[in-house]
Amino acid sequence: METAAKAMGFKAPRSRVLKEFKCPGCGEMVQATEFTIPLGPHKGETFVKNVGCRCEDKELAMQAVRNHQAMLDRKARDMFDSNSLINKALQKATFENYQPTTAALREAKLKIYQFAQTFDPDESCNLLLKGSYGTGKSHLSVAAVKVLLDRGYTCLFLSVPKLLTKIKNTYNRDAKWSENDIMDYIQRVDLLVLDDVGTEYTNLRNDQDNWTQSKLFEIMDSRSGRNTIYTTNLGSAELEKKINSRNFSRMMDDTEIIIMDGPDYRKKQF
Ligand SMILES: Nc1ncnc2c1ncn2[C@@H]1O[C@H](COP(=O)(O)OP(=O)(O)O)[C@@H](O)[C@H]1O
Ligand SMILES: [Mg+2]
Ligand SMILES: [Zn+2]
Repeated sequence: METAAKAMGFKAPRSRVLKEFKCPGCGEMVQATEFTIPLGPHKGETFVKNVGCRCEDKELAMQAVRNHQAMLDRKARDMFDSNSLINKALQKATFENYQPTTAALREAKLKIYQFAQTFDPDESCNLLLKGSYGTGKSHLSVAAVKVLLDRGYTCLFLSVPKLLTKIKNTYNRDAKWSENDIMDYIQRVDLLVLDDVGTEYTNLRNDQDNWTQSKLFEIMDSRSGRNTIYTTNLGSAELEKKINSRNFSRMMDDTEIIIMDGPDYRKKQF
């Protein structure tokens, strides 16, 4: 470096390598190098620079990713206005205020709690919360969403009928969002809750060629490799009939079933 600079007619700073190490920030091999300023008012002073370090590049790239992510999240909040999709009663739902009324529900709470605490977006593990009305399936799903949002993950809680209506609305001529926008976000979120699978309207007379069923398949298929919580009030046989076998078997991929049968909590108060 020094010789090349000399040949070009100016004096480069003198330098010596102090040590070479793998930078813990960017992972590059870098040389901590001491430079001596050759000219000017600071002539003779030294400074140390890590030559080969790419931390700054990496920081810029990560900032760009973060900005992009924030933009998508704003768009998604606009698109789904989460509050409007989670009914009033569930907005306060947490693990703390879920009081299991049976041993099975206590176990369900624990499993879902552990799911949220050990959540790893790179490991596909789905839950199917299956049971009668009012046992807290939606409650515990919302609770899990809150824990994960606190841990910095992106989550979406959607009831299946509302989601399908949302998609249908994008077919209107003056719709603000396209179906692609919605499908894209659904595919990307770290955790998706599909609440109340099986309560969506299906035209059973036209069972082999059903928009609802193929949309549901598309949604579940786009989630492969990611994490989804399903809830349903239907038993396996009914569910399979309602959503069709192809959807049913897709839904069971990497899915742990948690049975949440019990008394309807809403009736408890009376
Ligand atoms: N064990 C519980 N402790 C406290 N609140 C509960 C419990 N189970 C249900 N709830 C409340 O009762 C209502 C119905 O529960 P929800 O989760 O919607 O039932 P499901 O989805 O199983 O039909 C919600 O307001 C929920 O917060
Ligand atoms: Mg529910
Ligand atoms: Zn570095």
